[in-house]
Amino acid sequence: MFYEPSSGHGLPHDPLKAIVAPRPVGWISTISRTGSYNLAPYSFFNMLSGVPPLVWFSSEGPKDSATAAEETGEFVANLVGRDLAQKMNATSVDAPRGVSEFDYAGLETAPSRLVRPPRVADAPAALECKVTEVIRPRDLEGKTGRSIVVIGQVMGVYISDEYLTDGLFDAVKAGNVSRLGYFDFSTVDGVFEMRRPRWED
Ligand SMILES: Cc1cc2nc3c(=O)[nH]c(=O)nc-3n(C[C@H](O)[C@H](O)[C@H](O)COP(=O)(O)O)c2cc1C
Repeated sequence: MFYEPSSGHGLPHDPLKAIVAPRPVGWISTISRTGSYNLAPYSFFNMLSGVPPLVWFSSEGPKDSATAAEETGEFVANLVGRDLAQKMNATSVDAPRGVSEFDYAGLETAPSRLVRPPRVADAPAALECKVTEVIRPRDLEGKTGRSIVVIGQVMGVYISDEYLTDGLFDAVKAGNVSRLGYFDFSTVDGVFEMRRPRWED
């Protein structure tokens, strides 16, 4: 089949997000202007540059995480380990502004070192970020939609020692949770290695 998103796919559910998959889940913690904690998962999330180290997440509308990150200039992107999948999902609840999803999901906070938002204490890793840009992306006609993209520079990286194996971050042990399409998720349950070819070889 072939379809143009502007005309519809004719399938029971939109396949696009199942094709651009798996997407890592950035579990974004922020502090609002008034000081309340906020935590929510974002699968429109990734690293966009190594030098400088930049990550982004995209909010479909002005949700609490993007609003707080834009207003305060800080967020933490926590890694969702396999054991935290259910609690991560719980934090996607549409809680009223001011309600901490840490409390709602029964999660402990741990202080960050370089930014004010706390990290998820049990997360295998967490990236402490300062906002560099907030972008409202345009379509071909130059119209902005609902999306708000928050880009942040990684200022500090927390790694739980438990997930360092011979000095390497162990994604299989952590089981990095990612989002597929529909209501599907995956974890890292195995890896294989490939070295990039070099012309001189
Ligand atoms: C795995 C997962 C991934 C999600 N990814 C996104 C996303 O990329 N963008 C978005 O706007 N909402 C996403 N959501 C929904 C938000 O988490 C949800 O709307 C949440 O209530 C937003 O919280 P906030 O207002 O505290 O930021 C996702 C939900 C789940 C469960």
